[in-house]
Formats: sequence, C-alpha cells, structure tokens
Amino acid sequence: MTSPRPRAAHLVLGIESSCDEMAAALVEDGLRVRASCIRGQAESHRPYGGVVPEIASRDHLRSVSQVVEQALAEAGVAAESLDGVAATAGPGLLGSLLVGLSFGKALAYRLGVPLVGVHHLAGHLAAAELAAPQLRPPYLGLVVSGGHTALYKITEGAPELLGETRDDAVGEAFDKVAKLLGLPYPGGPALSRAAQGGDESAYDLPRPLQALPGLDFSYSGLKTAVARAVAQAGPLSDSRRADLAASFQAAATDVLVSRTRRAARQEGLHRVAVVGGVAANQRLRQAMGRAAERDGLEVFFPPPELCTDNAVMVAAAGARLLAQGERHAWSLSAFSRVPLGESPWAEAS
Ligand code: KG4
Ligand code: ZN
Repeated sequence: MTSPRPRAAHLVLGIESSCDEMAAALVEDGLRVRASCIRGQAESHRPYGGVVPEIASRDHLRSVSQVVEQALAEAGVAAESLDGVAATAGPGLLGSLLVGLSFGKALAYRLGVPLVGVHHLAGHLAAAELAAPQLRPPYLGLVVSGGHTALYKITEGAPELLGETRDDAVGEAFDKVAKLLGLPYPGGPALSRAAQGGDESAYDLPRPLQALPGLDFSYSGLKTAVARAVAQAGPLSDSRRADLAASFQAAATDVLVSRTRRAARQEGLHRVAVVGGVAANQRLRQAMGRAAERDGLEVFFPPPELCTDNAVMVAAAGARLLAQGERHAWSLSAFSRVPLGESPWAEAS
C-alpha cells in the first residue's frame, strides 16, 4: 500500500457515527463550516425506548454514502477537493463506529489523502473551540452527554480527568426519567419541553454527592427518587408531569453547576467549556450563566446544533490532528471504550 501524500489539511471531511446519528461535515482551515449533514434514527429506535445497537449499525450502512455525498453537495465541492478525512474511532457502539470509520478509510485511500481517527469527546470539546476561537487551553471542560459526565482540565498537554459519574451519565438519566414520565424517545429534549411551565420546587429531589467533597457525579439515586415519586403520584396529569420534569431537571443541572464551580476554584481556572448533548439544555445554560457571573467565570457553550452529536466537531478535531502531522494507518480500528487523551487507533500507524 502506498502512504498518503502529505498535504496541508485545508478542507477536511469529518464523519461521526458513534451512536445513532450518521453525520458528515466539511470544515475549511479547521474553522469555517462548509457543510453539516446529520441523519438521525429516532423513528427506528422509538418503539424500543432507546438505541438498539444492531439497528443503529444497519441503518448507518444504508445512509453513510448518501450523507457524505449530501455534505459534499452542500459545500459544492467534489470529493477530489478533500485534503484529509477524519472519522470518530471511539468511544461508542462498535458496530456503528466501524461503519463511519471504514467508509472514511476507503474514501481517503481512494483519494490518496491522509486519514485520522478522532476521539468522540475530543470532538465535543473541539466544537466549543470552533464556536469560540478565543477559547484556548487551559480551561475546564465539562462533558455532559448520553454516555459521559466528566470534568477535565484541558491544557496543551494530555487532558486531566478531575471527576466523573460513578453510575449513570446525566443524559442517560434524562432519557430514563423521560421514559418514566411517559415521554417519547429521545428523552432529553422531550423532558426539557415537558418541564416548561412546571414548578421546579414541587418535588424535593436529592442532589447526589453534592454535600460530599470531590468532583464525582452520581445520577442513579436521583433517577430512583423520581421513579418513587412517579409510583406515589398515580396517573400523571400534565401539570404533575411538568412539575416532576422541572424538579428532576433542576436537580440534575444544579449538581453540574456546583461541581463545575468547585472544580474551577480548585484548579484556579476561569474559563469553562460545557459540551455534549446535555449542553443544549436551556436550564443548564441559564444556571451556569448565573454561576459564571457570581464567580467571575467565562463559560462557553457551543450552539445547540454543535452540542448534540454532529460531524463538524469531528472535522474540526481532525483538522487539528492533521495540521500537527498526525496520520493513522489504514489498519486503524474502532474502540468502544477509550479514555480522553488516548488514541489506541494511532498506535498501529
Ligand atoms: O452528545 P450526544 O448527542 O450523544 C452522546 O455522545 O451521548 O448526547 C445525547 C444526550 C442524550 O441523552 C439526550 O437525551 C441528551 O443528550 N440531550 C438533552 C438535550 N438534548 C439532548 N438533555 C437535556 N436537555 C436537552 N435539551
Ligand atoms: Zn456525543
């Protein structure tokens, strides 16, 4: 096999398929978004109330080439104009990851351009840096998604994990509580809509670990407390559902804010980036904004469409790796669990 020809990473295609979104995007010079296409699968998974991995990867197989073609068409460029390809290599659902990664690999090989595997969470953080070019390390990164709830100290070197969830991720808790309240999948956005008009002090729900030292999170106790309240409430009227949704949302997001304030104080950091699907939540954005004002912090949230899974973040993170001279071997594979800062797929290069 010939090695890819070295070229500046001017126009990079990003492919993201770690869960139930197939996404492709084109980013120019690591900064300008030329195209962003996302194909969700909510209809396929809704009957099951959550993502079914087998359905997700089969659905990705059917859509990957269309979504990539759509991104190229949206930018008005031919595949031959690409200078590099970046694809999420982990963490995520293995079958889903492999679809996007294999497609990216084949395309880069055919075009003779370099390929890099991207860490999904590095992608989420890259979305915040793309949206706010003034956001530079060191800063505190709060990653809140369906699979992760963690605080990182982001520096020019390896990211440092400061705290993470001991059980469920916060997005997972939103999804499970939404199900308990009879709301449709995907639960997070449905729950925050249901919470509008609800009284967030109606139910006194626990803020797990808040009173304890440290920077870890825990969401399973909060979910159980909601389950108990639902069982006691009997048939749910719309207003009771709104009160429960609002009370849960307040407890879930207050903990994120208090941990973030503590981490910022502890680490002497003044800039905070909040990324991942739950960063789209308005209640979290408002509460974090108020805390930032009180503590003199600068908080950065990507626009909502760059909080949930997308390929702009993968193209942006990939463009940076390519600019640093990283190139990954055609033999690179996907990994379902990988700590942020590690890229086992690069080791084969
Ligand atoms: O980052 P993401 O798209 O995928 C993962 O990497 O997991 O995050 C998805 C998670 C889901 O749990 C979803 O319910 C949650 O983010 N989410 C929200 C909102 N939008 C998405 N949670 C609360 N409020 C929202 N507006
Ligand atoms: Zn994600």
